[in-house]
Amino acid sequence: MTDETTPAASCCCGAEHATRTGTPGALSRRRAIGLGAVAGLAVPVLAACSSDDSGSASAESTAESGQVLGKASDVPVGSGVIYSDAGVVVTQPTKGQYEGFSAICTHQGCPVSQISADGIVCTCHGSVFDVSTGDVLEGPAPSPLDSVDITVKDGEVTIA
Ligand code: FES
Repeated sequence: MTDETTPAASCCCGAEHATRTGTPGALSRRRAIGLGAVAGLAVPVLAACSSDDSGSASAESTAESGQVLGKASDVPVGSGVIYSDAGVVVTQPTKGQYEGFSAICTHQGCPVSQISADGIVCTCHGSVFDVSTGDVLEGPAPSPLDSVDITVKDGEVTIA
């Protein structure tokens, strides 16, 4: 890769983050998708950053045990659904296997906002998480998404 990382770029959230530089043609597919996502979600992302001047955009999970999230049939195989109100992501990595994760990014607390072919994406700073495990596939997130216990019964996904 020809991308280089340089420190200390100021962010809209007040923190300083490493940024990547390089030739435009050197953008990876994943990075290009992330940039497209940022463009498409510019208003919500900016709103999240501008609403908190403490240096950390934050969101909290409001998931409660027994809370019905939605229909299992709405969760696509190989992808997932972000239940923003509950702060939970439900994925179905393989047919019939459901996983639950916190929708709160472990970098600075932004809610993840999209699930692409690459994984669960936090468009605040471009972290990508694995749909099967919640592991970090691309930083700056330092750790995996927290697991959320879910159950699937009678076609409904519920917080365990
Ligand atoms: S909060 Fe920075 S990548 Fe998610």
